[in-house]
Amino acid sequence: MALIAPSILAADFLNLERDCKMVNESAADWFHLDVMDGLFVPNISFGLPVIEAINRIATKTLDVHLMIEKPERYVKDFKAAGADVLTVHYEASTHLHRSLQAIKAEGMKAGVALNPHTSVQVLEDTIQDIDLVCLMSVNPGFGGQKFIERTYDKIRKLKSMITAAGSNTLIEIDGGVNNNNAPKLIEAGADVLVAGSFVFKSDNPTATIADLKSH
Ligand code: DX5
Ligand code: ZN
Repeated sequence: MALIAPSILAADFLNLERDCKMVNESAADWFHLDVMDGLFVPNISFGLPVIEAINRIATKTLDVHLMIEKPERYVKDFKAAGADVLTVHYEASTHLHRSLQAIKAEGMKAGVALNPHTSVQVLEDTIQDIDLVCLMSVNPGFGGQKFIERTYDKIRKLKSMITAAGSNTLIEIDGGVNNNNAPKLIEAGADVLVAGSFVFKSDNPTATIADLKSH
């Protein structure tokens, strides 16, 4: 059984309070919040004021995924907005180790996200300092894309790296997650499943979250 993190990117922004309350009352474990700057990724999503607002009603962990260049500039701001887990992209942070230390110094869990083209091996020397690795199973920037099958192999490699290092790092999968691939992802070693479209575009999001949680 994995932790389930519905991605608010796929929620109805005109009914954000309703959708956040649905997540509160569902079997979900975390809120996944995607921040995009139109530079690191082609898309622009939402930022600090929206996360602050969500934090006022959310009763679960806020898992903030920064798809922004030089994310270290905003560590304190996202802490103030309510982030519990703060994930930066390996490809966007030149001094990754320093960024991880800054995130932890603020009392948050530190995450690193890897684009589909980035090998898990690049984390070999930092794995013990990372609370969560987010493996992107689509190219970041948009919801509703097709899951990249190569991800299973990356999970297995990452899992053995984590085990060899004796670390407690969680493996999160982000992009194209649904009821078909969820059991296989968990079997390969995934601890957290992010799901946007599959949850919010379904007829009954609460039931869809419960289904994902049942694997
Ligand atoms: C993509 C985001 C994902 C996105 C997932 O850049 O990081 O969190 O919301 O959406 P789905 O589940 O629709 O692929
Ligand atoms: Zn995400």
